[in-house]
Amino acid sequence: MLATLQKLQEDAIDEIGTVDSIDGLEAWRVSFLGSKGRLKGVMPLMKDVSKEEKPVVGKRLNEVKSALESAFDTRKQELAGATSARPPMDVTEPGDDVALGRRHIITKTIDGITEVFSRMGFSVAYGPEVEDEYHNFNALNIPDDHPARDPIDNFFMGGDRMLRSQTSTVQIRVMESTPPPIKIIAVGRVYRPDTHDATHFSMFHQCEGLLVAPKVSMVDLKTTLFQFAKSYFGEKAEVRFRPSFFPFTEPSAEVDMKMKIKGKWQWVEIGGCGLVDPNVFEQVGYDNDKWQGFAFGLGIERVAMLKYGIQDIRWLYENDARFLRQF
Ligand code: DAH
Repeated sequence: MLATLQKLQEDAIDEIGTVDSIDGLEAWRVSFLGSKGRLKGVMPLMKDVSKEEKPVVGKRLNEVKSALESAFDTRKQELAGATSARPPMDVTEPGDDVALGRRHIITKTIDGITEVFSRMGFSVAYGPEVEDEYHNFNALNIPDDHPARDPIDNFFMGGDRMLRSQTSTVQIRVMESTPPPIKIIAVGRVYRPDTHDATHFSMFHQCEGLLVAPKVSMVDLKTTLFQFAKSYFGEKAEVRFRPSFFPFTEPSAEVDMKMKIKGKWQWVEIGGCGLVDPNVFEQVGYDNDKWQGFAFGLGIERVAMLKYGIQDIRWLYENDARFLRQF
């Protein structure tokens, strides 16, 4: 009996799927739910069901009945909708506007910068955002008592784990796993605790560059950055170095680039650079007598904000469509 009911339900559901008119639906109702229909037809079998099984079979019978009734109602509504008197479709009417997504300004900036450096022969390297103190500091010649390691300026995560505070970590990871020569850039997120305001955010992006070759000088470094600036900001772009200090480069310099802002060419501080410190090569096992290198780190948000005239870094990460749509 249970098997018969199951079969009946399956047949009914299969069949109702093929019904495509109100008349057809009525015929379906008569054949399954009508007074001479198949459901009524199984009733006489009830008398053969044992006393213990009767409640189970009775319950199933009711279930099948309501399943069929609700299938009937649903199909009826569907057919009514499909056949209701609607005005004929005007195929010449303009369609609704489809809102197109677009790349985020930061993604666009990263793609643009990467494209220029790729053309200059740099390949793209990646490193983890969750780092250890060794790669973020020690290997970069930043000693244990250096102020850059202050817990106030870093996201330490317990153990020696931390969110990287600079993409210079990728220099170390690449040199650890690859013999020289090297010519890479590494773009990605970095994290530093900061009170958020128009120019500070606790997450931002950097573009790191590293070149290792038998002979490398500050001239190579400046020429590379100069070529980049001209390609990215335009023919009139310029590069200026100001003496500085970073533990992982010697000598070190602050990099300014002259770029067009609101129609005027202006000097903007954009990152740091220098020749790789021999202590860094020592950490990764490179022979200081055979290899020299330059490195640089550029701030992506800074480039993007100046290029697109964005006054507040927070706007980049609030995901307000009214802002994002402008670019
Ligand atoms: N990592 C530095 C920072 O976050 C930027 C930097 C300076 C990177 C000099 C370099 C470099 O590779 O040579 O402030």
